[in-house]
Amino acid sequence: MTQPAAHTRRTVLKGAALGAAAVAGSSTFRIFDAVAAAAPASNGIFGYGVASGDPTSDAIVIWTRATPPPQHHNDPIATPGSGIGKPLHVDWELAHDRSFRSIVQHGSVVTSPRSDHTVKVDVTGLRPYTRYYYRFRAHGQTSPIGRTQTAPDEAHQIHALRFALVSCSNYTGGYFGAYRALGDRDDLDFVLHVGDYIYEYGNGADRYGPAALIGKRDAEPVTETIDLRGYRLRHALHKADPDLAYAHRQHPWITIFDDHEVANNAWSTGAENHTPGTEGSFDTRRREAYEAYLEWMPFRLPEQRIVPHRGIRFFKRFTFGPLGDLSVLETRQNRSEQIDVSGFTTTGGGFIPTGIPAVDAALADPARHLPEPEQLDWLKDNVSDRHQKWHLIGNQVVMTPVRWPGAALGVPGNLTLLNSDQWDGYQADQSELIAHFAAQPSDHGDVVVLTGDIHSSWATDLPADRTASGYRPSGVEFVCPSVTSDGFYELVRASLPAGTPTAAVLAATAGVMGAVTAANPWVRYLDGIGHGYTLVDVTPARVQADYYLTPTPTDAQPDPRIDPAVTPTYARSFQTVAGTRKISAATGPVGPRSDSPASSERDPR
Ligand SMILES: [Fe+2]
Repeated sequence: MTQPAAHTRRTVLKGAALGAAAVAGSSTFRIFDAVAAAAPASNGIFGYGVASGDPTSDAIVIWTRATPPPQHHNDPIATPGSGIGKPLHVDWELAHDRSFRSIVQHGSVVTSPRSDHTVKVDVTGLRPYTRYYYRFRAHGQTSPIGRTQTAPDEAHQIHALRFALVSCSNYTGGYFGAYRALGDRDDLDFVLHVGDYIYEYGNGADRYGPAALIGKRDAEPVTETIDLRGYRLRHALHKADPDLAYAHRQHPWITIFDDHEVANNAWSTGAENHTPGTEGSFDTRRREAYEAYLEWMPFRLPEQRIVPHRGIRFFKRFTFGPLGDLSVLETRQNRSEQIDVSGFTTTGGGFIPTGIPAVDAALADPARHLPEPEQLDWLKDNVSDRHQKWHLIGNQVVMTPVRWPGAALGVPGNLTLLNSDQWDGYQADQSELIAHFAAQPSDHGDVVVLTGDIHSSWATDLPADRTASGYRPSGVEFVCPSVTSDGFYELVRASLPAGTPTAAVLAATAGVMGAVTAANPWVRYLDGIGHGYTLVDVTPARVQADYYLTPTPTDAQPDPRIDPAVTPTYARSFQTVAGTRKISAATGPVGPRSDSPASSERDPR
């Protein structure tokens, strides 16, 4: 996410971090300690927990990290990123029940420093829409038990489909209460994380997040992640977080990266937050970031020969019987460089003024792409598939056109801005896709785009044929809040004098939100204050999004993210009714599921 140049996030953060450093002294720059937050030593072989992911009707990926026990007292520990340690035999089991009396499959694998001692098994030949339990064993130690399930994907059969949408989980930005809330839920088919699972920033001047967490929730490594060791450590830091580990243990996840898993505002050959002179080749950095991502996430690389593509084929499709499909996009690896207006905005994308002919021409240039043309064609084919009622799209940056009134953002002059890192910066792809949605016959189903990145909650119509007097709804977009990353409330607060009462900050934030919705009539809901997650519930009749948000800040607690006990609670709901292709009101949160996956036991809470 980029912010207007008038108060860019980096500037805001630098101010906050430097101010905090003065208070916290040297803790900002403490010496790296290999057995600090990410320490496996006290947690044994399986200190990074377990995870599962990419559920299909007959397969699930199960994951762990197995730290080899030291053979002698003084042996160094094979911590993440260390590149040391002996190969280790790890046994795995998948069962119908939590006590593992009814084992479905089991096996043994060897892990080594080559994969940073991560273990990933693609367990196949499973039953659709069935709950399973899994665990790992090595050297007499047993991992925590993971719960998972295959996809509700059976021909001619419609099952309930419910999942959580999350993004932007900056570790130094707050406690992961949203992840704990997901772990507590018993009604999810999976968790969909659409990017910014990690951030690359360190603990120095580039630190990102509330100063109150300095010394309590610091980045590992302490400096920006730029190489394999750094990205591995950063992933390990997240997997060691108890709330995130809990959410992984309780549900399979479907994940895809956005920019921060590599560097801010990345494009195909560079990034805003990459300096070739001092940080080496972007290509190498990105390859190593992807390597760590694939090691540390329960992510299945799809068959590379299915469709032509450029680079690694990360984008993938899931199906849920006749109810729907989910196309998970990847929009960083091959995207064209963001349009930049030097002197006005941050380099490598940002909020830029429209109405300047050269800028507008560049934004609309059909040679510039967000997903590469092969991926765009693949997505259009998926949306045209008449066998599913709903075409869900997991997506990184906001697809809906958004014009930002410059005055509301504190930008001088009467400028209209747009965010050139979003689909708005790639308008040929944006309008081609929205026109394609609009052109689909009604019996081909409806489109629901599911997005993160912008650290705020949105429900919008996707407007085709926009004119001054109106637009044609062609589908909807639900955007989830960030788990922790700074939203509009935090940006507004940072732009106001220190000590501004919380009520005044909230009022100013509401002013910005109101100006944005007024300028974009298709934006039906926008909350820039809460953090949390969005619950997505799909039935043949409608898709509903329930927004779960942290409590509204008060003078006593201006930042709920710094309280480890805070969890998001139910705030608002919106839906799209089949055939309408637009947002409508929903009366309240979704009720119980209409059916549940096959399971040989009920789960104890
Ligand atoms: Fe983000």
